[in-house]
Amino acid sequence: MSGKLDKLGEEAREALQATSSLDQLADWRVKYLGRKGAVAQLLRGVGELPPEDRPAFGQAANELKELLAESYDARHEELSRAAAGPAEALDITLPGRPVNVGRLHITTQTLREIYAIFARMGFQVEEWPEVESDLLNFELLNMPPHHPARDMWDTFYVNPKVVLRTHTSPGQIRSMRKHCPDPIRVILPGKCYRYEAVTARSEFMFYQVEGLAVGKRITLADLKGTMVDFARQMFGADRKVRFRCSHFPFTEPSVEVDMDCIICAGEGCRVCKHTGWVEISGAGMVHPQVLRNGGYDPDVYSGYAFGMGPERIAMIKYSIDDIRLFYSNDLRFARQFG
Ligand code: DAH
Repeated sequence: MSGKLDKLGEEAREALQATSSLDQLADWRVKYLGRKGAVAQLLRGVGELPPEDRPAFGQAANELKELLAESYDARHEELSRAAAGPAEALDITLPGRPVNVGRLHITTQTLREIYAIFARMGFQVEEWPEVESDLLNFELLNMPPHHPARDMWDTFYVNPKVVLRTHTSPGQIRSMRKHCPDPIRVILPGKCYRYEAVTARSEFMFYQVEGLAVGKRITLADLKGTMVDFARQMFGADRKVRFRCSHFPFTEPSVEVDMDCIICAGEGCRVCKHTGWVEISGAGMVHPQVLRNGGYDPDVYSGYAFGMGPERIAMIKYSIDDIRLFYSNDLRFARQFG
């Protein structure tokens, strides 16, 4: 009898492999596992065996039935998947879908480069509010109400006494008041806002990085050394820097810092408007009254300050000729950096 079981098992498995559709599989199930199927019939024959052989045979027949049921389930899954068609079939050899990887914005990259350069010179980063009092944005920087120099900055007013800062220079007062009477070497990065028509050269929102050094024997030569070092680390070791006379109410004397044009090395080209020089920063010695407003005695302390635009630095470095590209979210632009 157990020989019959083995034979049936073998036959059933072969027949199962031979099924090629769900219909055929259904027939197979009736034939072998159905109520009147082959296994059931064998089991029914158990009564003809001598009583002592019956339990072993019953057990073996039930095991066969279970094995065949498992094989049936597996085959059912295979055939169903094939029947679902190629769209549903899982092709593990297909390459994966590309994942969009983010990158740092060009302004962020440039800011980080600027931080790293000034960090090597011992400057720490401090941040101050973008919404600023008129007092700090203007008055304590030597621009009382109605002072004509205020016209240099077209201003968004939040209310008559509060503005969106037009530059990072009010941070000078905040940093001085925080650190007084200790020496200071800080850079103050952040967003600034101006109520201006947007053009290729001006945005209503942009970044600045303010620099401030205050101590007992700080001179214009220190400012110059700092600017030369910055220009060479940012734009290459051969860079030349010059100071041009200028005026800012909060510095005395005031200068504009120019660097020889990196495109033409001073020969004259479109980027430098044929002057050979590009402006990289406003700067000067902190005005005695501004030092006083920050808590420092100008007879004892002196300091220099500068303010630069990271977008402008990036525009020079990568020959970008329109500042509007920075914040108009065109991925074709953004993807070129990083
Ligand atoms: N705050 C000036 C601006 O927005 C830039 C500037 C000029 C900053 C001279 C300074 C400085 O610290 O000394 O135009």
